[in-house]
Amino acid sequence: MSLEQKIEEALSVLRRASQDFDPTVMASSLGAEDMVLTDLIWKNDLPVEIFTLDTGRLPEATHRLLSLVHDHYGKAIRVYFPKSEDVEQVVSQYGINGFYHHMEGRKACCRARKVAVLQRALQSRRAWITGLRREQSPTRQSVQTVSWDEEHGLVKLSPLAEWTRDDVWEYLRLYNVPYNALHDQGYTSIGCAPCTRAVREGEDERAGRWWWEHPESRECGLHLTKESA
Ligand code: ADX
Ligand code: SF4
Repeated sequence: MSLEQKIEEALSVLRRASQDFDPTVMASSLGAEDMVLTDLIWKNDLPVEIFTLDTGRLPEATHRLLSLVHDHYGKAIRVYFPKSEDVEQVVSQYGINGFYHHMEGRKACCRARKVAVLQRALQSRRAWITGLRREQSPTRQSVQTVSWDEEHGLVKLSPLAEWTRDDVWEYLRLYNVPYNALHDQGYTSIGCAPCTRAVREGEDERAGRWWWEHPESRECGLHLTKESA
């Protein structure tokens, strides 16, 4: 399938979702895939609110992009923050960088800073859009374009499920879409600063996320399925 056809299909999924499942929202980490979706949604004036979860540990480059996106499109991505009591509890139990020492501490941190916040952002919504792609990692091979998200109780859409990394980058270059400067420094997937690093040649795209853990556990809990829970 050509890139033009993939774009048409993704756009038609987004259009249908915004009509059939109003209100539909989009979760953006400001990663490359999310910038493709943001460009499609805003350039086509689709009635979809775009939000990001600011964990409090994001890289400076991600905040710079958030601000650049506002200037570029004249629209702001809505920013959600975690509850301070939740973060304080995790920090007092596991330490400020406790995620490096125990898997339990890492999961608790992701839960407080992202998963609980996502639940709040999805309340009273009928569908949410994500930038997941099958090719990204062993944990994502069964990602569907449209599915029922049992965990959150709403429809989940991943319009780029079948896109390759090259498709994403071809789109961003073709349409001059702003992207995170860390991508030019070898970062293929970007999350929190302490838990993300650049990948080496030949490594999988998400190898730089929680690199000290096994590849099968490298999910933060935003995209748990029955099999991965
Ligand atoms: S994840 O492990 O952090 O979830 P990844 O960075 O590959 O993985 O993101 C996959 C998708 O999850 C993104 O395309 C986006 O839809 C959503 N997502 C991830 N992080 C955030 C965030 N901080 N805010 C909003 N959405 C996010
Ligand atoms: Fe905490 Fe790291 Fe998860 Fe960010 S990615 S919420 S810093 S454990």
